Amino acid sequence: MSVLSEELREKIRAEFPKYPNKRAVTLPALHLVHDTLRAVSREAIVEIAELLELHPAEVHDTMTFYNFFKDETHPLGRHRVWFCRSISCALRGGEELLETVCHRYNVHPGETTADGRMTVEFAECLGACEGAPCILVNDVCHMNVTPDSASALIEKL
Ligand code: FES
Repeated sequence: MSVLSEELREKIRAEFPKYPNKRAVTLPALHLVHDTLRAVSREAIVEIAELLELHPAEVHDTMTFYNFFKDETHPLGRHRVWFCRSISCALRGGEELLETVCHRYNVHPGETTADGRMTVEFAECLGACEGAPCILVNDVCHMNVTPDSASALIEKL
């Protein structure tokens, strides 16, 4: 049984006309699979490679180069929360913010909470230094975050 649903395969195929060749669809395909399945498993790599007419090692190389994609041993939680650790945020309490949130939710950066709700990640500058400290909750940036406002955001997830 295949790991990629027909719907997911169609979404990947829909990317083909946007790129000069199938190889160039590797990253978009990885993102689509990662977003949907919350991890890119070995089986998914093989199936992506078949769709793109590549060797699985080529897809695996791209996947591991970016250190963004999770494999099946460390799947993403339902939500991904990125804590900026660059200078502006660090100077305005970003480290304490991360420490407090990790303590509250009993999780370490790079890990997922036991209930699978949230994966906590480090981020480099989110480009919103004027609102430091910042976090990215899924794809939405939040500025001037405090431990309490971060917890409120997380509770809404
Ligand atoms: S240093 Fe955190 S957003 Fe720029």
